[in-house]
Amino acid sequence: MRLFEPYGFDLLARVNPKIRESALDLATGIGEPAMSIARMVGPEGRVVGIDLSEQMVELATRIAKERRIPGLTFLAMDPEKLEFPDESFDIVTSRFGFHIFTHPETVAKEAHRVLRPRGRIGIVVWSTAEKATALNAVVAPMLEFAEPDETGYRPKPFELGGPGELTTLLADAGFVETQEERRTHTMAFKDEDEYLEILVEGTPLGRSIKGEDPSVQKKILAGTRANLRKWKSRKGIQIPCEGVIVTATK
Ligand SMILES: C[S@@+](CC[C@H](N)C(=O)[O-])C[C@H]1O[C@@H](n2cnc3c(N)ncnc32)[C@H](O)[C@@H]1O
Repeated sequence: MRLFEPYGFDLLARVNPKIRESALDLATGIGEPAMSIARMVGPEGRVVGIDLSEQMVELATRIAKERRIPGLTFLAMDPEKLEFPDESFDIVTSRFGFHIFTHPETVAKEAHRVLRPRGRIGIVVWSTAEKATALNAVVAPMLEFAEPDETGYRPKPFELGGPGELTTLLADAGFVETQEERRTHTMAFKDEDEYLEILVEGTPLGRSIKGEDPSVQKKILAGTRANLRKWKSRKGIQIPCEGVIVTATK
């Protein structure tokens, strides 16, 4: 996903994978940052990317094979129940996964367990709604019109993006030297249609919208287009979006 790349680079710069290290990437999707890390640790390193979705794992495996990236495996696995022994990785990463996890605190404890002593964790999530502007263009109308699920819960991509939220979660899981940094990148789209194609159809947001009644879907999409108009210029649509990068050590 082109739009997520700058946040991935922010993450890699802080986690700093080194040659021959081993890494586990949680909620890897179609394989990032697992693939970038595999290149950095080299053929004598080891990288495992996991995702809950078999479909994502198959896709990531195919892409890695096409790109001939050695030392990289993708597995379908629940990040709350990691099927690895204690102390088996130097690095754990996750790019835009923690705000989706059902029990992120359980995932953090599992990440702590599988890391070697002094192992590093690096996570990126979206910032709060008012700062993750590009994402909020669609999420705000989703929250306005969509119904909560049967438990009354309405997931939003801004969970854990507030100041200190992720660092506290990691400290509670046993991590030390927690650090939080906020970085804003500009997301550029040719027009509203491209925004919808990439950021809505190409992410789990699209699936959530399709679960709504057609009349609600229509309202959400109209609200999104209205929000995007504010960011329109001769160069297309350019919207800032803040990410939160958190690192810590075991
Ligand atoms: C926004 S994508 C991020 C993918 C990739 N890391 C990237 O940055 O491009 C989040 C991933 O989390 C996975 N996922 C969704 N719900 C999950 C859950 N409850 N627990 C674990 N993973 C989940 C999805 O299959 C999806 O691949």
